[in-house]
Amino acid sequence: MDCDLTDRTALITGAGRGMGKKTAKTFARNGADVVINDVDPDVAEETAAEVRDLGVEAVGIAADVSDAAEVQAMVERATEELGPIDVLVNNAGVGDAGPFVDDSYDDTFELNLDVHLYGSLNCTRAVIDGMVERGYGKVVNITSIHTKNGVGMSPAYDVGKYSLLGLTKSLALELGREGVRVNAVAPGWVNTRMTEGFSDDVRQQILDNNPVGRLAEPEDIANAVTFLASPASDYINGHELRVDGGQVPIDSWRLDNR
Ligand SMILES: NC(=O)c1ccc[n+]([C@@H]2O[C@H](COP(=O)([O-])OP(=O)(O)OC[C@H]3O[C@@H](n4cnc5c(N)ncnc54)[C@H](O)[C@@H]3O)[C@@H](O)[C@H]2O)c1
Repeated sequence: MDCDLTDRTALITGAGRGMGKKTAKTFARNGADVVINDVDPDVAEETAAEVRDLGVEAVGIAADVSDAAEVQAMVERATEELGPIDVLVNNAGVGDAGPFVDDSYDDTFELNLDVHLYGSLNCTRAVIDGMVERGYGKVVNITSIHTKNGVGMSPAYDVGKYSLLGLTKSLALELGREGVRVNAVAPGWVNTRMTEGFSDDVRQQILDNNPVGRLAEPEDIANAVTFLASPASDYINGHELRVDGGQVPIDSWRLDNR
């Protein structure tokens, strides 16, 4: 199976931590040069240095993906330093969520749509013309277990990720004949900063409803993203690849967390 990414340049958003960081290192081990984006400049730089230690080119660029002007400037600088972007991973994300009733939902909806939907749109817009001109590109969007059945008590996150899945399906149809593949990876619950604050009750529900009996590790997700970024997946388009151990969504809607 050919997962070689030599001579490819990848842009991974939110790659300063978590599964984005792991994906950057996995891409590097498969030969890609990597642009490490994060809204937090310190972690972007740290990750870029660790990726360079693996023997490829890497640059850390701080930008808020929900700001179209910052994204445009990031892609211009990235292209100057590492060449045109062949692979885009829309990974930047926020875990902010709460129930629809009683929540300050205007803020949480705005944040979730800004980062998950508009952030991915901004980044895709900034690289897509180049991909179409060159007749080659891979876009991998990070959705979630939340697109399996909704999760409840987190409608803003559910809507953010379902809208990103819709974008994935639609762009796959539009761009397939241009040599661009657009797919999604839907992680189950993963051991990253985002799940650190889960209560024992929620953690136990996740484990009770997971046939594999554990949370995912960032590496589990990075492997799937690498596959979808590589020539091995050239005939896969518009697909959402679940990497969740067969997780059954938890009954979070039953939790007494109002
Ligand atoms: N951890 C999980 O259980 C889980 C499950 C399913 C999906 N996801 C999704 O996976 C992706 C990665 O999450 P993670 O678990 O690695 O979380 P994480 O918090 O470890 O990493 C997310 C990174 O995104 C960055 N970021 C946030 N907003 C940004 C913005 N506006 N612009 C640029 N960077 C920004 C953060 O600074 C952070 O470094 C997210 O899209 C998340 O929604 C996570």
